[in-house]
Amino acid sequence: MTTKSQTNRQARTYKGTPANIARLSKALARGELVAVPTETVYGLAANALDPKACRAIFKAKGRPTADPLIVHIHAWSQLEALAEPNEAARKLAKAFWPGPLTMVLPKRAIVDDIVTSGLPSVAIRMAGHALFRRLLKASGLPLAAPSANLFGYVSPTTATHVKAGLGARIPHILDGGACRIGLESTIVDLREPSAPRVLRPGAITREQIAEVLGVEVLAGRPKAREGLPQVAPGLLKRHYSPHTPVVLKEQILESDWRGSDRTEAWLLLTKPAKPAPNVFWLDARGDLRAAARALFGMLRSLDSAGYRRIHAELAPGSGLSEAINDRLRRAAAKG
Ligand code: TXA
Ligand code: MG
Repeated sequence: MTTKSQTNRQARTYKGTPANIARLSKALARGELVAVPTETVYGLAANALDPKACRAIFKAKGRPTADPLIVHIHAWSQLEALAEPNEAARKLAKAFWPGPLTMVLPKRAIVDDIVTSGLPSVAIRMAGHALFRRLLKASGLPLAAPSANLFGYVSPTTATHVKAGLGARIPHILDGGACRIGLESTIVDLREPSAPRVLRPGAITREQIAEVLGVEVLAGRPKAREGLPQVAPGLLKRHYSPHTPVVLKEQILESDWRGSDRTEAWLLLTKPAKPAPNVFWLDARGDLRAAARALFGMLRSLDSAGYRRIHAELAPGSGLSEAINDRLRRAAAKG
């Protein structure tokens, strides 16, 4: 009887006032979902110790349960309750937490299979966003949160993006402004501390991790026998994808787009001297951090502008470019 009004009900967006933080931490304790800001992308949070609430995350996102969630914490003691840390984890936490780094460690029994997709490991992140940290502290709960987008689509970097994708599927969105980093966290697998592996590149680079740990850091998709899930979105080839086809190029020159078909968009890193209406750029001066911050919002707006195709330029060099290019490649991958 009430089904229709329930499906049509839109999420409420909350400013980060103390009263709203108190209200939302109670909602989390009741098992409700809350979209939360982090410095990387917005997450869709639930009490990580409540399997039913965690199950609701998968349903709201349309995400297969074979895809494990990241658990967010505000204090090291919470990590110790959830996982078995090692020396490498301690060093990385000291260097980069709170921040855009997620560590994969052996899990403890308290973490339900729904969170880890049945894996014996758990992904943990201490995020650095002040408002999110206030909510984590107020609730006292570890919060499981994947990115707050429909499965497979571009991750949200504003509360408006969250509402566009999940507005009819979740009750609460905490608005913490635009995400400062704009790309999902670096995920580092520390189960074997002498052979750390970056499973997903992000703002904390492989070079930075290697410097802190003093060992070589592997990268890329692990082999099946290493026991990691093969169906994990951050590891899936096609992910973070707009509906419009994306075509990549090492470098886009003015001769590529000058006089080009106006139904196709060109996405450059830097502003060209004399742009055309179908030419866009991530940052006027090509600053990589600004480019990373702008990327997902730009892909979303080009996607809704109705272009037939988006030609995108890859970022040069390593470091943050690795993360930007990883997301561009996934956006461009076919199937
Ligand atoms: O920046 C971020 O990491 C954001 C914010 C909200 O924290 N979260 C995020 O979550 O990007 P999500 O679910 O979209 O991506 C999490 C990735 C998935 O690719 C998943 O496979 C991987 O983390 N993951 C989770 N647990 C894992 C585990 N035990 N072993 C290997 N990978 C794991
Ligand atoms: Mg995601």
